[in-house]
Amino acid sequence: MDRIAIIGGAQLNGTIPVSGAKNSAIKLMAASLLTDEPLRLTNMPRLADTRFLGKLLTRLGVQVTESDGPDGQQTLLHAPEITSGFAPYDLVRQMRASFNVLGPLVARSGQAKVSLPGGCTIGARPVDLHLQAIEALGAKIDLHEGYVYAQAPRGLKGAEIRFPFVSVGATEHAMLAAVLADGVSVIHNAACEPELVDLQECLNAMGAKVEGAGTPTVTITGVPRLHGATHAVIPDRIEMGTYAVAAAMAGGEVRLSNARPGLIDALLDKLKEAGAGVEETADGCIIRRNGQRLSAVDIETAPFPGFATDLQAQFMALMTTAKGESRIRETIFENRFMHAPELMRLGADISVSGGEARVRGVERLEGAEVMATDLRASVSLVIAGLVARGETTVSRIYHLDRGFERLEEKLGACGAQVRRIKGDGEAEL
Ligand code: EPZ
Repeated sequence: MDRIAIIGGAQLNGTIPVSGAKNSAIKLMAASLLTDEPLRLTNMPRLADTRFLGKLLTRLGVQVTESDGPDGQQTLLHAPEITSGFAPYDLVRQMRASFNVLGPLVARSGQAKVSLPGGCTIGARPVDLHLQAIEALGAKIDLHEGYVYAQAPRGLKGAEIRFPFVSVGATEHAMLAAVLADGVSVIHNAACEPELVDLQECLNAMGAKVEGAGTPTVTITGVPRLHGATHAVIPDRIEMGTYAVAAAMAGGEVRLSNARPGLIDALLDKLKEAGAGVEETADGCIIRRNGQRLSAVDIETAPFPGFATDLQAQFMALMTTAKGESRIRETIFENRFMHAPELMRLGADISVSGGEARVRGVERLEGAEVMATDLRASVSLVIAGLVARGETTVSRIYHLDRGFERLEEKLGACGAQVRRIKGDGEAEL
């Protein structure tokens, strides 16, 4: 398995272009199941997760073609017919978002057999709200031997869907299923993440009638069929936030381009509060820190527009060398502090109790061998490695490859000393 080695101490100076958002791209790819015409996605990130979903979609009957055109990286997805409604455990277990093929499959072909995803390292992550939504839309749902069997031979019907709490995946899943339902569906207590707005724009470009994404109430007027479209994937706010934190950690001046303002305001506010220089630009932001030590600030994760859980590990890494004590509360996932013991191997002073971590800033981190436990945890270790004395090696970076495109190249172009050490054989996802 590959590892990443970082020699700490270099400041970051330069420009980092932000890629298309992984967490949007994989839901948009699933939307290709809804039409027999081609869906062209531009600004596509090339990641292990997008390749992986491409593999699953191919098994279901989607022709997936990647190309690099004048508009950058594109993926063309074309499902003239659904050749299989079966998503096996092997594939869904490895990437939970694969579960979101269930709704589009039932919506288009009236049936699906999709594996339950099981737990994962950041929490139990059940899919009860997804099933509640698909059932409300009139599908008959049965669970047997780890599989969801969903049937709606006469098609789905518009419905009122009320989520008891906010779920990004369940909101997206409900939207993906309801676009072809007969009648009007209203999703109450919908997630408001920018990726939902991106999905709405793509579905509407395909002929759907979706309104309200980005607010807690989404209304979908079902249409009998969707057509092909071209859609540009929204910039990755988590990648943008990650490099913003990396720049604040290493010092120097980094411009994040090819993004949008307003995607990571909660993080930028906290970076300012900690003492970093933050300047918003038309297509991203500039982050500066010249010499002065940052101050500890507290964060609490929350659904958008709050502080993203997917940036919590990175912010914890930042706080390990800040002046004072920072309290980090995780409210979205119950087990998302697996990076804390790894950061402690680098000399961080962290104690975790329940959903709260206390980070007492130290003057210096020391390079060490550490292990990635999930996608965002792995990049937090790279960020810490940027300032740790000596060399830090991060193993199990197949987690990192799921969600960060050309990380070594992007950080290296700004002066970081980061290299990939090739292992023996390709890692499984
Ligand atoms: C999405 O996960 C993202 N993944 C996550 O990013 C992100 O952390 C999360 O949203 C929150 O922003 C993708 O988009 C692929 P949720 P999702 O449903 O949709 C509970 C990354 O690193 N819940 O909003 O799975 C759930 O267990 C990943 O890129 C239920 O109880 O998140 C969690 O505690 C990690 N029942 C909470 O809701 C359900 O049916 C919010 O989860 C669904 C969710």
